[in-house]
Amino acid sequence: MIWDQADGELRRTFAERGFIACSDAMMAVLRQASKAAQLSDITVLLEGETGTGKQVLARAIHQLDQKRHSRPFVTVHCSTINETLAESEFFGHERGAFSGAVSPRKGLFQAAQGGTALLDDVNDLPLPLQAKLLDVLQRRVVRAVGSDRETAIDVRIMAASNRPLAELVRQNTFRADLYYRLNVVHLSLPPLRERFAELCPLILEFARRHHEVYPGITRVDGELTAHLASQRFEGNVRELEHCVQRMLFAKTEGTSLGVEDWMSQCQDSRNETSREMVRDAAHTLWRVVSREGLSCADVLRLTERYLLEIAMSSGPQTRRDLAQRLRTSERTLYHKLRSHALTSRSASA
Ligand SMILES: Nc1ncnc2c1ncn2[C@@H]1O[C@H](COP(=O)(O)OP(=O)(O)O)[C@@H](O)[C@H]1O
Ligand SMILES: [Mg+2]
Repeated sequence: MIWDQADGELRRTFAERGFIACSDAMMAVLRQASKAAQLSDITVLLEGETGTGKQVLARAIHQLDQKRHSRPFVTVHCSTINETLAESEFFGHERGAFSGAVSPRKGLFQAAQGGTALLDDVNDLPLPLQAKLLDVLQRRVVRAVGSDRETAIDVRIMAASNRPLAELVRQNTFRADLYYRLNVVHLSLPPLRERFAELCPLILEFARRHHEVYPGITRVDGELTAHLASQRFEGNVRELEHCVQRMLFAKTEGTSLGVEDWMSQCQDSRNETSREMVRDAAHTLWRVVSREGLSCADVLRLTERYLLEIAMSSGPQTRRDLAQRLRTSERTLYHKLRSHALTSRSASA
């Protein structure tokens, strides 16, 4: 691949801060991120599935921020925040503000004073807290629980969402006014399955990062990346990193990672879980055969029919989507649908 000078530099700048990227889509994101880093007061919204690197990118932006990099970077996990204690988490409390508040405590925004506050999984923030957060964003002051004084905050706000916030706004589970406040610079991180060009550099980075598990990996076989490109990676880059760790753990010799390393580890553990699930299901089916008097063939046939129906009801899709979802060919799917006399408008063509 050929990089123009600027892209190469951008890539290195972020790689030095732990964020690996090279696909066109991600380079576009990095260009925006680097611009945002220079504008220390601008709010940044990062969207992407879980494990796509939102938090790593947010931290990299903070580190590149000339005004704020030597000040704190504080993350609050909105999905685990305790709703009753949230106000104190955000704004701090005075001593004796409520039972249990034996000493005063700084909240998120004051802890991040001068630096950056990342609201992680902001999509999980309960509506009452969304209103409180909106107020902070508008007025840039906080008041600790039990205090009558307001404190001005000088903090860059970043928010990460693992679901498209605009959609949640339409569903009325996220406040539109807060969304507009957060959505100033919008960075959208594509899922790993849409940027498989990055597999190889990412794998090498993780092999380097976890060299204490197994040292000296310098190559990734093309066959391995080709094989991985057929995986879904629901857990995105985080899942890939864990797989690399498992491959390294199982490795005993050599300087390259290949398909056999993948097979011996990742695939094994996944297959084992799947086999257990199927075994559980088989126990249920056995009860039907043994008690209800249906033949094994009838039960298997019915099972197939229900699998087809379940897959068909999992959203609108073409026959090609459906075949992919069922891990079969379109031709086989066509015959199966016919043999079960199943037709579905959604599964047509
Ligand atoms: N572009 C990347 N370069 C290097 N490591 C990454 C990248 N994206 C994700 N990771 C790794 O995956 C893990 C999960 O990333 P994270 O930023 O926590 O994802 P998210 O916040 O989107 O759920 C990180 O700890 C990091 O090790
Ligand atoms: Mg995260």
